[in-house]
Amino acid sequence: MTKQIFSGVQPSGNFTLGNYIGAMKRFVALQEEGNCIYSIVDLHSITVPKEPKALREYTMQLAAMYLSIGINPEKSILFIQSHVKEHAELGWLMQCTGYIGELERMTQYKDKSTGKDVVTCGLLTYPALMAADILLYDATHVPVGEDQKQHLEFTRDMAERFNKKYGETFVVPEPMIQEFGGRIMSLDDPSKKMSKSNPNAASYVALLDEPSAIVKKIKRAVTDSEGIVRYDKVNKPAISNLLTIYSVCSNEPIETIEQRYEGRGYGDFKKDLAEVVVNALTPIQQEYTRWMASPELEDILKQGAERATAIASVTMDRARRNMGLVTF
Ligand code: TYM
Repeated sequence: MTKQIFSGVQPSGNFTLGNYIGAMKRFVALQEEGNCIYSIVDLHSITVPKEPKALREYTMQLAAMYLSIGINPEKSILFIQSHVKEHAELGWLMQCTGYIGELERMTQYKDKSTGKDVVTCGLLTYPALMAADILLYDATHVPVGEDQKQHLEFTRDMAERFNKKYGETFVVPEPMIQEFGGRIMSLDDPSKKMSKSNPNAASYVALLDEPSAIVKKIKRAVTDSEGIVRYDKVNKPAISNLLTIYSVCSNEPIETIEQRYEGRGYGDFKKDLAEVVVNALTPIQQEYTRWMASPELEDILKQGAERATAIASVTMDRARRNMGLVTF
């Protein structure tokens, strides 16, 4: 059976190497394996309110970024989530299928709400909208980083619960999480996920960082005192993280890299790692500049929304009918 692949990225600005390695790089390769649908999930990003001007900019920047890494709009559907109304609509049906207790248990919700004076309702119900995103397209496979695993489990639960209660409606999707690269860690603290929301910009490599900034950040990345380039996630988390980045960006197995740096210190390793990352990101950055100036960008997104609506409206109709909402 042909794979039906769906994934989304929030337009929150400053896409990181974590986003790229954990998810987006894979989106490109998957275009050879099935029907791919990729979304700029703007409705998710307003769960933490944004400046309208910034949101508009981030949305178009992310569209350009998708195309720059190699998403081919003739093969894949690329669209802005809010352009396909069915997301909000099925999102509501999912809110009425999920339980508050399930949503309150989500670690991302806990992380993002703890210590905040005000928390939007959307931040809590975020996973219901994510379930809608996926289920609307009968997605069989969902490539994501490890931090989305819990949301994917919730999506599967929602599909199963709905099907059981209202009859076969949704496909139960499989998460695709990589063993290497599914969780890229912060450069300044290997116990934390690399994240664009970290106030310390030296903790992440942004996909649009200048080569000189990348060199500086990698040079400063924390290591350990052993001085041996060896993959050992438990005892050497910082070096293992850097090795993962090296391996994914150079397309070389970890062992090959370990052998190359046998008997050499971290200095050499980091210098080469910076070069490998710069070489991986430079072509993306060049494409990005071109796409940001391209008048085609808007047409691609309009067409993407039309193609996405054609699929989503059929599923939405099925869900509405099965749930007992009157349709004429
Ligand atoms: P978002 O926008 O936070 O991140 C986009 C993708 O990047 C992955 N990622 C990472 N992977 C490895 N290491 C990291 N340090 C790292 N940081 C981010 C994320 O796991 C994600 O795959 N809720 C989603 C967006 C979404 C979605 C969907 C995804 C909305 N609807 C439907 C899949 C299907 C999110 O906030 O991703």
